Order: sequence, then structure tokens, then C-alpha cells
Amino acid sequence: QEDQFKKVLSHAKEYGYVFQSSEIYDGLSAVYDYAQNGVELKKNIREYWWKAMVQMHENIVGIDASILMHPTTWKASGHVDAFNDPLIDNKDSKKRYRADVLVEDYCAKIEAKIDKEVAKAEKRFGEAFNKEEFVSTNPRVLGYHEKIKSILTRMAKSLENEDLADVKALIEELEIADPLTGSKNWTDVKQFNLMFGTQIGASAENSMQVYLRPETAQGIFVNFLNVQKTGRMKIPFGIAQTGKAFRNEIVARQFIFRMREFEQMEMQFFVKPGTQKEWYEKWKETRMRWHLSLGMGAENYRFHDHEKLAHYADAASDIEFKFPFGFKELEGIHSRTDFDLKAHEEFSGKKLQYFDHEENKSYVPYVVETSIGLDRMFLAVFSRALQEEELDNNTTRTVLKLPAVLAPYKAAILPLVKKDGLPEIAREIMDDLKWDFNVFYDEKDAVGKRYRRQDAAGTPFCITVDHETLTDHSVTVRDRDTMEQKRVAISELKELIRAAVDM
Ligand code: GAP
Repeated sequence: QEDQFKKVLSHAKEYGYVFQSSEIYDGLSAVYDYAQNGVELKKNIREYWWKAMVQMHENIVGIDASILMHPTTWKASGHVDAFNDPLIDNKDSKKRYRADVLVEDYCAKIEAKIDKEVAKAEKRFGEAFNKEEFVSTNPRVLGYHEKIKSILTRMAKSLENEDLADVKALIEELEIADPLTGSKNWTDVKQFNLMFGTQIGASAENSMQVYLRPETAQGIFVNFLNVQKTGRMKIPFGIAQTGKAFRNEIVARQFIFRMREFEQMEMQFFVKPGTQKEWYEKWKETRMRWHLSLGMGAENYRFHDHEKLAHYADAASDIEFKFPFGFKELEGIHSRTDFDLKAHEEFSGKKLQYFDHEENKSYVPYVVETSIGLDRMFLAVFSRALQEEELDNNTTRTVLKLPAVLAPYKAAILPLVKKDGLPEIAREIMDDLKWDFNVFYDEKDAVGKRYRRQDAAGTPFCITVDHETLTDHSVTVRDRDTMEQKRVAISELKELIRAAVDM
């Protein structure tokens, strides 16, 4: 697993997907830049989401709110007082960690032991092996599960009760060591606010403390009535937005899974009070369907329904994805009640109510939210797509099997040789296709080498112009995933690509 993660990191750099930010200055921790291919993949994921959420829903519209908002926004939302992580320092290494993550990682190690037991049993029983039955009856596995549950329950309770001394006690009882140095010499646990602050205004007296938004959702809440009125929206309706969010995360080596500057794709769905459960279930299902539509394997997704709920929620579930380092949260679906709108009413003194003509009364709507990290989705897609394949002739190839709809380039156009008029025809094809698709031109090196380069970069089709093209006006189209080649008339290329990339 660790190996796969390392491959993902180096491939993302080598093929122009993700670079460390300010690399020439040795980088900035948990901040990354998207490179020439990465920016295209990221844009395509954003568009795939926007189409599914906004374009396909008559009752959902988009906005693009600012990163800077009036600071009272964050008082009302609870972020100033409660958007904290419990941190702990190691006295010897002077390294800082999230206390809850240390405990979760400890539990993940126990989970790895369960996986080992399962694999061992599978080997022993062969075909007759029934995983579900084994996991639910094997005493050792049951014991591991029990232990994980009791540790996580205790940690959740302690955090909820702000009993930070008990979180420290738990770390000491489990004898958790600094992952880097092995030292078990810990400080007390302290709460640390995750928002980045800055000032607006030039002079000291007139300046105002503001924050970089830690979620895009609040930009939607404060605009709720403006959008509803000007868009003449009728409940139930949604407001969607994508954009940057910032959190001063304490993290180590998680690449773009947990960043300090990242992008969210959020949608707040405003509903009649009392109907939120129904909409919550509906959005859970709709969002899971969106993920599955990309064809990355149903076995790589699961729901994780929360038992412990945030102060604003009456139900919450994560869609978890199998990353190279295990199942982790990819998206959250939250039934947020009327908490946010009510809080903004209270702090702003302005009414944020909807007049329901059918009911003939006003109320503060309830909200069901879907919230996914664009960068995290990028990592999910990229890490799942990256594969090493054994070929028939005992060689291997690296291939990035990105869903065609998301691939940065849909096709590469390759003249077989750099003479005999083939580059000219290739350019003509390129000039025609580029109105509809992002396409790539490459005439350097032998064609086999160019195929490999496009496989690794994730391009679904290679279109090769050869000497026959001069007479039959057709080209060879090579499929990235099957490596099969077929002859296609130049006039049919658009249709072929369109069929593969349509959502
Ligand atoms: N408005 C609700 C909200 O912000 P969240 O669970 O804190 O909820 C939603 O975040 C999603 O944003 C997560 O599921 C994750 O995909 C993404 N996300 C959160 N923090 C992130 C970070 N530091 N780096 C990258 N993605 C992050």
C-alpha cells in the first residue's frame, strides 16, 4: 500500500499533474500546485460535478461567493469558537500531531491485523471461504473489532466533553509512540483553531480581523434569500458552489488528501422542515450514484454513517473511498437542520425566512448538504487509475486508466514519421478536433514510445497517421486500456471520441 502511494506521488510529478508548492524553496507543507495535466483533470472533475448537480437539476443554481467574508459569519457558524483540532506535541522530537489522528492510526494498525487474519483464513479454506461469516464469528477478529470500537468510542466521548486530559491518558495507555522517532514523551493535549486569520484595512485603528473561509458553505447560507428571491426559487431547491477553502491543518505526508489550501464542491439543499430525513436519504443515494457513474469499482466505496454528530446536524454520513492508504472520507452528506440560517438570523438581525405559498406561512428552511473535496476526488481518481500491467511479451507498462470524460487530453495525434506529408495531415486532424476536444500533438520518437507516454499520461486514444492515410483517408486508433488498434475514417473520429467521453 505504501509502495502504491509512493508511485502515485512520483507519477503525479513526472507526468505534470501535481507539484509541490514553491518547490525551489523546498516547498510549503500541505500546499500543492496543479501542473499542466493536473489543471485539466481538476477542471474536468469540477465540470463533471457541476453538470450533474447544477445543469441536470432545474431546482439547483450556482453561485461564486468570496473567500473573504464578514467576520461575524464565522461567529454565527460556530467556527470561531468550535472549529478546533486537539493537538499534542512530542517533548523529545518537538513534532506536533493531531491527537485524534494518532489514535485513529493506532486503530488502523489493528484493522491491518484483521486483514491479515482474513487473508490467512482465505488461503487455508480456499473456495469454501466465506468472508462475512469468518469476520462475524472468528474470536480473534471479533476481539480486534471490540478493541477498535472501545478506543474510538472513548476518544469521541472525551473530545465531545472537551476532556482533553483523557485523550492524553488514552494515548499513554495505548503506548502510542511518535511515528517518526518512537518517543512516548507527550505534552498535554490542547485545542487549536484551524482558521487562517488576516486583516482588512491599512491603518492599525481601522483594520478588521477577517478569516480565509474554512468552508464554502457559509457563502451559500448568507446569500440564501438573495438567490431565492432573484431566482424565484421554490422549496425544495439547492445552491451549489465550488471554490477554495483554507484550514491550518496539522498534517504530515498525506499529499493532496489533506491540504491547507484546497477546493470544495458543495451544495446546500433547502427543504421544508420535517422533510429533511427523506432528502438526506435521497442525496446520499444520488451522490453515491455520481461516484459509481465514473466506473471506478463499487467495491471501492462505502458509507460511514456517523454516530457522533456535529452540533448543527441531525444526521451525517461520509462516502468513503479506498485510497492507497485505506478507506477514508471522500465526501460528506449532512442534514444540517436550520442551525446555520437561524444563527445568521440571530447574529445579523435580518430575517432569513421563506414564504411557502402552499402552506401560506413563513419558515426557516432545513438544509441537507453535500460536500466533497475536489483535490481529494482528484487523488481518488488518480490513485485508482494508476496501474502497472504485465504484458504478454513479459514486459510491463504503466497506464493511467482515467475515466475518458475526465482525462486531460482525449486523444493524441501522432504522424508515424516526420516526413512524406504525414505531419501536415496530422495537423489538419488536430485543427479540426481541437474545437471539440483537448487534443495533443506528438511527433518525437518512435511511435511505440509515444504510445507508452500517452498511456502513462492517461490519454484514452492515440490517432496515428501513416502512409495509407494518404490514400484511404483513415487512421489507426489505439485504445489506451485494451491496446487494440483499428482503422477509422478521419470523418468518423469526432463521433468515436464523443461516444467515449459523453457522460
Ligand atoms: N461544509 C461542510 C464541510 O466543510 P467537511 O467534512 O469539513 O465538511 C467536506 O469537509 C469535504 O471537504 C471533505 O469530505 C473532504 O473531501 C474535503 N476536505 C476537508 N478538509 C480538507 C483538507 N484539509 N484538504 C482537502 N480536502 C479537504
